[in-house]
Amino acid sequence: MRMYDIILKKRGGGELTPVEIGFFVDGYTSGEIPDYQASALMMAVYFRGMTEAETACLTMAMARSGDQVDLSSIPGVKADKHSTGGVGDKTTLIAAPVAAACGVPVAKMSGRGLGHTGGTVDKLESIPGLCTSMDRERFLEQVRRVGLCVAGQSGNLAPADKKLYALRDVTATVDSMPLIAASIMSKKIAAGSDAIVLDVKTGSGAFMKTEEQALALAREMVAIGENVGRRVTALITDMDMPLGHCIGNALEVMEAVEVLRGGGPEDLARVSLELAANMLHLAGKGELPACRALAREAISSGRALEKLCQMAAAQGGDARVLEDFSLFPKAALCREVLAEQSGYLAAVDTEACGTASVLLGAGREKKGDAVDHAAGIVMLKKPGDRVEKGEALARLYTSCEERFAQGRERYLKALTFAEEPPAPRELILARVGRDGTERPE
Ligand code: URA
Repeated sequence: MRMYDIILKKRGGGELTPVEIGFFVDGYTSGEIPDYQASALMMAVYFRGMTEAETACLTMAMARSGDQVDLSSIPGVKADKHSTGGVGDKTTLIAAPVAAACGVPVAKMSGRGLGHTGGTVDKLESIPGLCTSMDRERFLEQVRRVGLCVAGQSGNLAPADKKLYALRDVTATVDSMPLIAASIMSKKIAAGSDAIVLDVKTGSGAFMKTEEQALALAREMVAIGENVGRRVTALITDMDMPLGHCIGNALEVMEAVEVLRGGGPEDLARVSLELAANMLHLAGKGELPACRALAREAISSGRALEKLCQMAAAQGGDARVLEDFSLFPKAALCREVLAEQSGYLAAVDTEACGTASVLLGAGREKKGDAVDHAAGIVMLKKPGDRVEKGEALARLYTSCEERFAQGRERYLKALTFAEEPPAPRELILARVGRDGTERPE
């Protein structure tokens, strides 16, 4: 079998067989198939797509490309969550400690930033000393002791995804439905949790720009997980504007802590609590309304914040920063961006906001680049807000003038003003489970 023929077949729109998919995944993981051939196949899949059977087969080949975590030594139903990627999406930092504080062990593997979107591992690493890379024994021991661990994709967990994720990030092949489905579900299956809640984003800041695409991705991921015996629910949530006000690693951790203290932006709190309630529901803690009440109580009692602090300390982090934000790393430069006109902020190109944050230093431009944990954006105005000329629209945090100029230019271009406020948008659009799709009441 030759990789060349597999690329050619997919380029022509053919359906790959399980043997061909296995040949590619094994060969790429072992290093026998080079990056340039894998990139060519990724681009062919991007344009030609994959059938459901091919996607399921790719997922399982990737899940089996390395170790599979056995969580059976930890009592209870273990829960996990994963987002398809967004801007300002810090929901893991809220939903995971809430679920853990309600007695559901959370053993989560998270990723780094991808394209214009942020990643939980980069956000957590803005807590000084916090380590997200650990061996299996330490990971399991922490879940057993603290009930919560959020780690990076460990050495040999779905290594095929680890390599493909980094390759797709720099070859413009991220926003492909079968590639996202296989990437997410391979890690989730290999990571071993019984209950998986997926946050499938849709809108200008998401990889799936339309609700229809997001629903198709959600249904495919739910089917893949349920077919291998996992309980999976997907929420379709809005990413037509950044979630909350903060974009960038340390800024997002602080905003998540605000929600765990019972405050913070309403949109962020609502999506995070709904994700947590669905984790509790899948883990058998009751019907959804009861699980929502449990999640709210975990916040009002302070137990969820306490859980995040315990997790940070267990991973070697200085948990004092979660109480005293002045201990977070500081950006060298902090400047406001002022409105050049009056009107209503009607819309933001959320992907461009994410890119502005990357330009400020919060993300990577090349594989392996270091991120500036203090860099990012605080949106002082969001769509629907009235703005007067000269008023501050946002605060940008970065390391130097050049980055500030690039970030400012991209940010301003992302904004659209109008005479009238925009129509409000639904935040949670649908819930997809094994029994079908429900719309919120
Ligand atoms: N998140 C992932 O883990 N993989 C993708 O491909 C996109 C988002």
